[in-house]
Amino acid sequence: MKLIFLGPPGAGKGTQAAIISKKLNIPTISTGEMLRAAIKAGTPIGLKAKTFMDAGKLVPDEVIIGIIGQRLEESDCKDGFILDGVPRTIAQAEALENSGIDFDRVISLEVGDEAIVKRMSGRRVCAKCGATYHMESKPPKAEGLCDECGGELTVRSDDKPETVRDRLKVYHSETEPLKEFYAKRGRLREVHGDQDMAAATKAIEEALV
Ligand code: AP5
Repeated sequence: MKLIFLGPPGAGKGTQAAIISKKLNIPTISTGEMLRAAIKAGTPIGLKAKTFMDAGKLVPDEVIIGIIGQRLEESDCKDGFILDGVPRTIAQAEALENSGIDFDRVISLEVGDEAIVKRMSGRRVCAKCGATYHMESKPPKAEGLCDECGGELTVRSDDKPETVRDRLKVYHSETEPLKEFYAKRGRLREVHGDQDMAAATKAIEEALV
């Protein structure tokens, strides 16, 4: 299965990709995670990406197309993968198509803007392993600590309400047109992302059949 999870920031792409990845035994490839790792490691790509990410803007296509192309050549991708947060522009989608990848499904998680702004204020992320929590819908067992590795839970630097609003604007102008791109190819399935997590997982599984 070669899948894309589309949707606005905070729609639940990463949360659902982690669940579906385990079920299908295929890796999730998140450009957001890759860029945050590059920032942490202080690489030239990380330094370049940071200014765009902190401003809620997209990192330039050539950077993304380069890192995703390299990642997809790795051996764990040979039986399929989930792309989380990529492609995000028509140029990125065309680059993936031109490299010969035929996606089985493109799942678009639909959540309204106001629900997103509210949801993002409760997100916490493990500084060590990247696991995602929510103060109301998915709280950790011990306050401030990751259930998986005991790492410290932090607020992502781009989750401030004003940055979230900028990211939503960018989503509507740059990324939402991808729905039409993949609908024309018969691959798009829209799933309500504003239901509880288990119901959203079930709806995604139904869309994969
Ligand atoms: P990225 O890391 O990809 O962020 P995003 O797409 O904006 O998405 P998020 O990770 O914020 O949200 P999500 O949909 O994964 O939701 P989550 O599951 O965490 O990108 C960050 C930045 O990197 C971009 O702004 C850009 O600058 C750059 N970038 C990355 N890829 C790029 C690309 N291809 N091109 C150019 N630039 C790129 O859930 C959110 C919260 O809600 C969590 O707390 C979760 O627990 C909770 N939650 C999840 N589901 C539910 C539910 N059903 N009910 C209640 N709460 C829920």
